[in-house]
Amino acid sequence: MSSGFQKRFSQLDSLLTDLRPYWQFMPYAEKALPWNDINPALCDWLSAQTPENLESWKTDTSSLCNAISQFVPAATKLHRLCALTSTETERYSLPPYLNTGIPGRKWQQIIAFNDSLPSESDINWLEWCAGKGYLGRVISASRRQPVVSLEWQKQLCDDGQHYADKNALPMTFIHADAFTPEADKLVKQKQHAVALHACGDLHVTLLKKAASNGTRAVSVSPCCFHLIKGNTYQPLSETAKASTLTLNKHDLKLPLQQTVTAGAGVQKKRFVEVSFRLGFDALQRHLTGRDAYLPVPNCQKALLNEGFDTFCGWAAEQKGLKIPAATDFAHWLAIGESRFNDVERMETLRDIFRRPLELWLVLDRACFLEESGYSVSLTEFCHRELTPRNILIQGIFRDEKMR
Ligand SMILES: C[S@@+](CC[C@H](N)C(=O)[O-])C[C@H]1O[C@@H](n2cnc3c(N)ncnc32)[C@H](O)[C@@H]1O
Repeated sequence: MSSGFQKRFSQLDSLLTDLRPYWQFMPYAEKALPWNDINPALCDWLSAQTPENLESWKTDTSSLCNAISQFVPAATKLHRLCALTSTETERYSLPPYLNTGIPGRKWQQIIAFNDSLPSESDINWLEWCAGKGYLGRVISASRRQPVVSLEWQKQLCDDGQHYADKNALPMTFIHADAFTPEADKLVKQKQHAVALHACGDLHVTLLKKAASNGTRAVSVSPCCFHLIKGNTYQPLSETAKASTLTLNKHDLKLPLQQTVTAGAGVQKKRFVEVSFRLGFDALQRHLTGRDAYLPVPNCQKALLNEGFDTFCGWAAEQKGLKIPAATDFAHWLAIGESRFNDVERMETLRDIFRRPLELWLVLDRACFLEESGYSVSLTEFCHRELTPRNILIQGIFRDEKMR
């Protein structure tokens, strides 16, 4: 068995484990930068970053890693371990009508995904968690091979089937739940199973079913790692089961948090909401005498226009707290505003761990497929500007030639 993925997993795993204090925590719950004891120089550097600096790091993780490597030397290696090659693509010519109803970016992702798939004669395709079957549409049209598309939402199945029938595409939609035995029956040996952006347990289920059936080929672009049934991540591969990392849903969201720069309007709204929340958190700690973060649910954005005191009244009601009439709201809001900048600084540091943690999760899947008898490739099927979830895991069953 090739141990390239195992080795890379182990290197990432040991760095992520050693560096846990820098990423495995909740910035909202901290009252100040939490590394003063272990890395005061890093804290000084972060504290010196202005809001403008922090905003500009968001577009340039590579320079951010370089800057942070002065204080956390392993940052450079971590960044290097995330390098992936782009998929070698075969360009299919497609009829122009095929993109009807597909948003521009989604269309480009689908074209790139389809171009990354091998051309095989005599194969059936299974599209897992298909939505309206946009990917299946392109696969069936470009290769003239049959596609079965599994989807849970009836309306999406109906729409997809209607389009396929109208355009004489060899597609069959199956309205079913991916977690049921009915779906099990769809995963077969002489098949290429694909899943574009099927969330958490959904794509994991496909990988497990494909592996246990010896499905000929499987191509998956994973997303939403936190959408799992359990409270913590359950590694798939023997390699990852040996790790001492325990990932909860908050950790699993880290790879998905976008580091996009926002316009001034969006930045302002974020500043208001986050500082209101942090200001309320400071107030509730004072009122309850419990120095612990208290999560407050999402609210209607209009509430934020009504001022900090109204927001606190609403949040207190959600949490069954009473706010004394004499509360000095300006004081607590000022604390919230100052904590906002520290949260931004903590998130800046966490930025450099997003892709490494994603790779850790993806490598777990790659190792699992290898352990199950597949030759595996890991590539980027499109630019990150098209979608940050641009990693493609492809496995070809190694004993295929012997069948
Ligand atoms: C993020 S969308 C991806 C859709 C499509 N593959 C694409 O890239 O456009 C995930 C899809 O999974 C479907 N889904 C969610 N839970 C499911 C389940 N238990 N069984 C089958 N499909 C499910 C959703 O309805 C949704 O269409």
